[in-house]
Amino acid sequence: MEPAVKCTDVRFAYEEAEVITGLDMTVEKGEYIAIVGRNGSGKSTIARHMNALLVPTKGSVVVFGMDTKTESNVLPIRSRASMVFQNPDNQIVASVVEEDVAFGPENLGVPTAELRRRVDDALAIVDMAEFALRAPHELSGGQKQRVAIAGVLAMQPDMVIFDEPTSMLDPEGRASVLAAMDTLHERGITVLHITHAMEEALRADRMIVISDGKAVMSGNPETLFAEKGEELIALGLDLPPLMQLSHALKALGIDGSAGISVEEMVEKLCR
Ligand SMILES: Nc1ncnc2c1ncn2[C@@H]1O[C@H](COP(=O)(O)OP(=O)(O)O)[C@@H](O)[C@H]1O
Ligand SMILES: [Mg+2]
Repeated sequence: MEPAVKCTDVRFAYEEAEVITGLDMTVEKGEYIAIVGRNGSGKSTIARHMNALLVPTKGSVVVFGMDTKTESNVLPIRSRASMVFQNPDNQIVASVVEEDVAFGPENLGVPTAELRRRVDDALAIVDMAEFALRAPHELSGGQKQRVAIAGVLAMQPDMVIFDEPTSMLDPEGRASVLAAMDTLHERGITVLHITHAMEEALRADRMIVISDGKAVMSGNPETLFAEKGEELIALGLDLPPLMQLSHALKALGIDGSAGISVEEMVEKLCR
C-alpha cells in the first residue's frame, strides 16, 4: 500500500544552516503518530513539509504518492493533508462557528446542500454541534481548537498534522481536543501529532523521536519509554510521570513496574 508520507533524506535550511539534516520517515495510512523532540529540533519545520508549505532543499517528501516539489501537486496535497496549529485564535476566520467551519469547503465551491452536511458532520465529530450558531470569541480555548479541527474536517482530509494543538489549553480543553483526535483516528484519518507532552505521546500507535533535524528513534511509545528511557532523557525529553516513577523504582532495585496506568503499575508491583 502506498504510504501516507514518505520522507527520504530530507534536508532543509531557512538560511545557511541546515535545520532538517537527513530525515527519513514513513507514515502509513491510518496511523496515529506522535512526533516528539526537544525545542528547536525541527518538528514544526517537518510539519510544514507534510503539506507542501515548505519543500526540501534536498531529498524528497512524497504525500499520498505526490512529490511536494512538483508544483501541480501542491493543491491536491493540501486538499488531503491539513494542519492544525497551536493557537486556535489564529485559525478562526469567521464570526459564527458554522460559518468558520464552512469557510474552507465554501471557497472550493462545494454546493450548499453538501456544505451543510459537511459542516454538521464536522461539528458533530468534534462534539461542537450545539455551538454551531455561537460566536467563536465566546468559546473556551479547547472549544475554539475543536472548531478549528471541524474546519479542517469539513475539507475531508485523509491526514491531519497537529502542531502542539493542546499546548495553550487548560486540562479540560486538552482532554476534549485529544478525544477529538482519537475520533479522527477511529475514522481512518492519518494523524500526526507533534507534542511536547509525553503522556499525550502515549496515545499514539507509534512515536517518532526527532533530534537535530532527523528521526533518531521510532517505535511503540510505551515500549520506547520503558526500554529507552535514558536515551530519551539524553535527547532532552521527559518521561511520562508514571514512567518516571517506574524508572526511579528501578534505580532502587524494584523492577518490573513499568506501566502506563496507575492500575497496571499497582498490579505489576503487587502481584
Ligand atoms: N522562519 C524561520 N527562519 C529561520 N530559522 C527558523 C525559522 N523557523 C524555525 N527556525 C529554526 O529552525 C530550527 C527548527 O525549528 P522548529 O522547526 O520550529 O523546531 P521545533 O518545532 O522542534 O521547536 C530552530 O533552530 C529554529 O530556530
Ligand atoms: Mg514547534
